[in-house]
Amino acid sequence: MLAEKEIQELIGRALEARENAYAPYSNFQVGAALLSDSGEIYTGCNIENSAYTPTNCAERTAFFKAVSEGARSFRAISIAGGPGEKEPETLCPPCGVCRQVMLEFCSPDFQIVLAISREEYQIYTLDGLAPMGFRL
Ligand code: THU
Repeated sequence: MLAEKEIQELIGRALEARENAYAPYSNFQVGAALLSDSGEIYTGCNIENSAYTPTNCAERTAFFKAVSEGARSFRAISIAGGPGEKEPETLCPPCGVCRQVMLEFCSPDFQIVLAISREEYQIYTLDGLAPMGFRL
């Protein structure tokens, strides 16, 4: 379970990371903040590409930064996204590919904080968003 202070910190960091989103094609800007078991926070934003398929989601940017720095176990991620010119107005649930990346490194009770703002958010578990996920 996350403490309220941790939730607020994660949402703040996701909103901050969203400011770095590179999304000239969709104009949909996403930020994420990933909390490791050791208490480190890794942030990420979406990074689009003119060839489209190389695009990386905010969540995977955060995971790949973390894993490349040696982190392997995680407690929670906060995600915030929406059209670039305004504050998020709806929840931004992770895409299927990002859910599969979460399944690789996280347990079923991994917490996914979908945030519109610091005041408005909903918390899901990985098992709730990716039931019967593929694992080897
Ligand atoms: N996107 C994310 O970064 N995370 C999500 O959870 C959903 C989608 C990005 C990918 C693309 O750059 C843009 O949002 C529109 O799909």
